[in-house]
Amino acid sequence: MNNRFSCRPLWLLLCAGCLLGPARAQPDSANYDEARVGAHPLPDPLRMADGKTVASARQWTKVQRPAILRQFTEHVYGKLPGKPPRMRFQVTSLDTAALGGTAIRKQITVFFTDTADAPSMDVLLYLPRRANRPVPVFVGLNFYGNHCVHPDPGIALSTRWMMSNEAGGVVDHRATEAARGTQASRWPVAELIARGYGLATAYYGDLEPDHPEGWQKGIRSQLKDVLDTDETEWGAIGAWAWGLSRIVDYLETDAAVNARQAFVTGHSRLGKAALWAGASDPRFAMVISNESGEGGAALARRRYGETIRRINTAFPHWFAPNYRNYNQDPARLPVDQHLLLALVAPRPLYVASAEGDRWADPKGEFLSAKYAEPVYRLFNRKGVGAADMPAVNQPTGETVRYHIRTGQHDITAYDWAQYLDFADRHFARQPGNRSLKTKAR
Ligand code: GCU
Repeated sequence: MNNRFSCRPLWLLLCAGCLLGPARAQPDSANYDEARVGAHPLPDPLRMADGKTVASARQWTKVQRPAILRQFTEHVYGKLPGKPPRMRFQVTSLDTAALGGTAIRKQITVFFTDTADAPSMDVLLYLPRRANRPVPVFVGLNFYGNHCVHPDPGIALSTRWMMSNEAGGVVDHRATEAARGTQASRWPVAELIARGYGLATAYYGDLEPDHPEGWQKGIRSQLKDVLDTDETEWGAIGAWAWGLSRIVDYLETDAAVNARQAFVTGHSRLGKAALWAGASDPRFAMVISNESGEGGAALARRRYGETIRRINTAFPHWFAPNYRNYNQDPARLPVDQHLLLALVAPRPLYVASAEGDRWADPKGEFLSAKYAEPVYRLFNRKGVGAADMPAVNQPTGETVRYHIRTGQHDITAYDWAQYLDFADRHFARQPGNRSLKTKAR
C-alpha cells in the first residue's frame, strides 16, 4: 500500500483565499512556495467503503468506480443527466471540399428538444476528405464560437452572448467578422486533417454562458424539466461536460466518423469539463487535460496556486453547491483529483502543464496523474512511470502521459504535437486506421 494515501484528515488547511479580498482570479498572495504546501495525505483509490482493497479490474469497474463517480457527483461537479429523449440533429451546411479541398466541413445544430424554440448547440465538424474509413475525432469546446477556431469563411458566425474581448473581435458581447480565426493557434485543424483525424467543436456558451447568472440562459434552466434536474443540482462545468457527451451522440449517427475513437480534449476551465466528461462517459476513448488546474487535474489538497476557496469565490457558478463545503478544509473532501483521473482507466489519458502556469499547479497535476497509476496497474497498463516530475519538454508515460512545457497558460502547437503522437501510438495501428492514415498523408 502506498503510504501517501490515507483517509485521515491529518492537517488543517490554511486557505490562502481566507486572507484575500473580493474575487480576483489570481491573487498575488496565492502560495507558490513548495515548502509551504505541507503534508496532504490523499484518499487511496483502491480503498473501498468497507475498508477492503480493490483486488481486480473487475472489482474496480463494478464497485469502486461507480462509488467514486457518485462522490464526484455529490461533492464536486453535481449531477450529470443523460441524453434528452427528443434530441434531434440538423446538418445546416456541408462543404465536401473545404480548406483547399483537404477537408469536409459539416455544421450541425443539435436541438435538445423537439419544440420550435428548442435550446441548441452548434457543432462544427471537420473530417479529412480523402479518408476511406470512418475517422477518429478530437472533441472539444471552444471559448469564443466555432468561427474562432479557423479563418474559414464558411464557418457560421456565432450570434450568442460571449465575453467581450475587443482584441478578439467580440464587441458588446457579440462576435463580429473580426473574430474569425482569433483562436486558430489553439486549433491546428490542417495538421489534424493531414494526420487523419477529425475535429468536432462547439462554443461552450451554447450550453451555459460563463458568468454567475449564465445558468438562467443556459441548459441548466432551459432543460430542467426535460432532464429532471434542478439548476442547483449541477454547475456550469457539468453543463459543459454534458454538451461534450451530446457531441458524441451526434458523432454516433455520422457514418464518416469512428465514434469509438472520440478523444475529448479541453484547455483550462474547458479542460476541467473535458476531464469530467471523460471520467463519466466511457465513450470517450481518450482524454486530454490541457492545463486544467484546480477542479481539473491538479490535486485540491495541495495548497499551491489556485485553491478550492478561491475558485468557488471567483467562479461561484462552476461547481455543485456542495463543493463550497470544502473551501476552508479540502482535506475533508472524500475525493481528490487523482481519483477523477483514475476514473478514466484503462483508457489513454494525457495530462499537460506549462512551466509559466503556476496558478494551475503543474506539480499537483503531475502527482495526480502519478497517483492514478494503481488503477491503471489493475488493468496491466503503465502510467506516467516517472517518480518525479520530468524536465520541461520531456513527455513521460505510456497509457497515462504527462508533460510540462516551457511557456505560459495556453494550448500550443507543442501540446497538440504530443496529443497527436499519443493518439497515433494508441489508436493508429488498430484495424481500419492504417490505410486511413496512409491515404490522408
Ligand atoms: C482562471 C481560473 C482557472 C481556469 C482559468 C481558465 O484562471 O482561476 O481555474 O482554469 O481561468 O479557464 O483560463
